Amino acid sequence: MESPYKANILKGKVALLTGGGSGIGFEISTQFGKHGASIAIMGRRKNVLDAAVSSLQSLGIQAVGFEGDVRKQEDARRVVESTIKHFGKLDILVNAAAGNFLVSPEDLSPNGFKTVMDIDSVGTFTMCHEALEYLKKGGQGRSSSSGGMILNISATLHYTASWYQIHVSAAKAAVDALTRNLALEWGTDYDIRVNGIAPGPIGDTTGMRKLAPDEMNAKFRDYMPLYKLGEKWDIAMAALYLTSEAGKYVNGTTLVVDGGLWLSRPRHLPKDVVKQLSRAVETKARAAQVGVPASKL
Ligand code: COA
Repeated sequence: MESPYKANILKGKVALLTGGGSGIGFEISTQFGKHGASIAIMGRRKNVLDAAVSSLQSLGIQAVGFEGDVRKQEDARRVVESTIKHFGKLDILVNAAAGNFLVSPEDLSPNGFKTVMDIDSVGTFTMCHEALEYLKKGGQGRSSSSGGMILNISATLHYTASWYQIHVSAAKAAVDALTRNLALEWGTDYDIRVNGIAPGPIGDTTGMRKLAPDEMNAKFRDYMPLYKLGEKWDIAMAALYLTSEAGKYVNGTTLVVDGGLWLSRPRHLPKDVVKQLSRAVETKARAAQVGVPASKL
């Protein structure tokens, strides 16, 4: 789909994306690149990184891949430093790496819980921590008056409660807390903007394959306000808004991009029944007020 933005809105920017080689992360990498940014992607699987980098390069995008696991501080440091060595600076850090699986709390081992917390929450903090030196105003390759940006990919699971997702709900709640606290503290001290995106169900992603098997999708759609799955493109467009000049006054927010799904509730009464029922109740009340049978009004 064609972008509604000008092609140069991220011109000259350098972005590092964890989990940037596949799924939503890869679409953000691609769209950032198409809008002028140079792209470094971090991931655990060399074959995924290699394929992603050649795909980006075939679009004329400056791209490089670095193997690493966000759970290891030494990997985080090495990848941030390699990005600086390769491109000379860092403007945008996107934390898109995540772990997920469906499991009921009683079947989830504490280590399973910890694994997701380590990837999503601690991993996000670790990457931010290692990137601060370069993202802050006056950091290598930056002016002394403007800092960089952080974008954390979150979820809406923890706004209410989600079946079989206790670990991810906890992890993403922590991610949202990181977004707000860093926006406050690093916005004040280093001119760094920190925002998040909470995607709803996005088609053609590992998340959807893992969390919503095909047979569930049709049912899902019945509850969705906009009645359709999102596309990876929708998330990338939100990411462009938040990281470009368009979002220069947005700090500490997590933008929900889910078609309103998290607001959805099963419809407890059909609309025509509501009309009849609601009128009937009023008529009855009025009849009682004036002391005549409702059928006489
Ligand atoms: N159900 C219950 N527990 C599970 C599980 C499942 N489907 N998958 C993993 N676990 C548990 C393991 O049993 C283990 O706990 P234990 O030591 O008490 O047995 C713990 O989680 C770690 O599992 P392991 O397979 O060693 O972790 P890993 O580091 O190799 O992989 C995952 C991490 C599990 C998060 C894996 O799914 C992953 O790499 N995901 C990344 C991609 C992804 O999920 N993307 C979706 C984004 S929405």
